[in-house]
Amino acid sequence: RKRIGVLTSGGDSPGMNAVVRAIVRVAISRECDAYAIFEGFEGLVQGGNLIRKFGWGDVRGYLAIGGTLIGTARCNAFRTREGRLKAACNLVKNGIDALIVCGGDGSLTGADTLRSEWSGLIEELVKEGQLTQKEVTPFTHLIIVGMVGSIDNDMSSTDLTIGAVTSLHRICEAVDSISSTALSHSRAFVIEVMGRYCGWLALMAAVSTGADFVFIPERPPSTDDWESEMCEVLGRYRKLGKRKTIVIVAEGAIDKHLNPIKANYIKELLINRMGLDTRVTCLGHIQRGGSPCAYDRNLATSQGVEAVEAVLESTPDTPSPMIGIRENKITRQPLMKAVQLTQQVAIAISEKDFRRAMELRDPEFAD
Ligand code: F6P
Repeated sequence: RKRIGVLTSGGDSPGMNAVVRAIVRVAISRECDAYAIFEGFEGLVQGGNLIRKFGWGDVRGYLAIGGTLIGTARCNAFRTREGRLKAACNLVKNGIDALIVCGGDGSLTGADTLRSEWSGLIEELVKEGQLTQKEVTPFTHLIIVGMVGSIDNDMSSTDLTIGAVTSLHRICEAVDSISSTALSHSRAFVIEVMGRYCGWLALMAAVSTGADFVFIPERPPSTDDWESEMCEVLGRYRKLGKRKTIVIVAEGAIDKHLNPIKANYIKELLINRMGLDTRVTCLGHIQRGGSPCAYDRNLATSQGVEAVEAVLESTPDTPSPMIGIRENKITRQPLMKAVQLTQQVAIAISEKDFRRAMELRDPEFAD
């Protein structure tokens, strides 16, 4: 019987529990054993009670719960070879030779490193006498399958990451609430949203709520005097009779010289140049918590099914796949290629090549 481990890593995202549920139940129905690894890579390094066999009933009720019930942690030990040696030892001791990791690009890179070092790690563990040759013989290679859980929707080669749509809903609800109080007082609000260096949440929230202005990292204002440009646009809307002004700022927003654009700076501009009674709301972690929306539950479930299938079809020569979604179809892409493209986005932005940043995130953007 194949033994499949599942772990969640990096920042939690709504839908991660649905991922665990799908993997456990599909694994069982395909006559495999499923193991939950608690606290992300920390669980792999520490082993013991942090690696537990899960049955069908262990994931009952998981679909609707936000965050990740099996925990996540930033694990510095796993970044070291010594930590990965412990992880490999714990996997072999538990008979696990396939790992499905749900996280962002950093977590998926860590998992693929374990796979690429696998034979060397096993050899070393035998040499050190921590494992016997007999114990390691069935573990010729480690299968890694990546699933992308992140509210940021910042992974290349997939249209959506698990949790992004829920987070967008949360932001829209918050902006709607703010809008009603803004309207009552004829105020301006500058709303900061998450997303790291990705502007997807900010842009989609701005479109969905009819915000007046939005700042995102991938498309900085083209002029040096963007402040006057923004005030001119917002002033025009006011003259048309608008009683509220909503500006959405991605936390990674920058100007064309890569200087950060901060919510408080915009607030001062709206007060001093436009005389608007202005408040700042930083939505914070409310965007990441809470029950996943139906879309994320479905996405996590369909992708979980695909992840188990990918494990079962994997050969020693197959590069680790990443489960994605493109044009409404669940896909498998080479994991490390997607990670590399994602990491190059940040480089392209830092080199002010904003068009390239968009192309890297979506290779079909150029078409
Ligand atoms: O990657 C998810 C995310 O929520 C980002 O949007 C945000 O920048 C970051 O994590 C916040 O991290 P932390 O929870 O460690 O403060």
